Amino acid sequence: MDEDSSVEPSNKKDADGPVYIGREEDLKKQRAKARINGREIVVFYHNGKFYAMDCRCYHAGGPLHLGEIEDINGQACIICPWHKYKITLGTGEGLYQAINPREPSVTPKWRSKGVKQRTHHVTVDNGNVYVTLSDMADSIDSDYYAEKTINSSVKK
Ligand code: FES
Repeated sequence: MDEDSSVEPSNKKDADGPVYIGREEDLKKQRAKARINGREIVVFYHNGKFYAMDCRCYHAGGPLHLGEIEDINGQACIICPWHKYKITLGTGEGLYQAINPREPSVTPKWRSKGVKQRTHHVTVDNGNVYVTLSDMADSIDSDYYAEKTINSSVKK
C-alpha cells in the first residue's frame, strides 16, 4: 500500500458542518488523511463510494489509512495493518469469526462486535469532497485514539 496523502482541510463551509477534504478525482485515486477539529480521519474510495472514519484503529491505534480493503461477508472492510482486525467501512463495526459449538456445522461465521470505529458522513458537491464529523453524543471505542498523535512506524 502506498503512503496516503495528508491534507489540511481548507475552505471550511462552517465550523461544525462539512469540511473540504479534496477533489473527487484525486480522492478516487488516493486516500486522504485529514484533521478536523483535532480529530484524525481518513477518506476511502471503494467500489464507487466514499467512506470516512477515524484514522486510528479502535484496538490499539493502528493506522487504518495503510490497510487493505477486502469484501467480507458482503461488506467492504478495512483490514488494520497492525493486528488484522476487520472493520466495515460503512458502519465501523468490528467483525470476527465465530463458531457455535452447538451447531452441527463448525464452519465459522462472521459476526459483529458492534460499532467500534467512528464513521463520518461524506458528501460530494460539484467535484469537491467534504466530510462532516458524526454526532459525538455517544462514546465509541475509536474515540480514545482519534485525537492522539501516534507514530505509525511503531508496530505493536
Ligand atoms: Fe488495529 Fe490492533 S491496532 S488491529
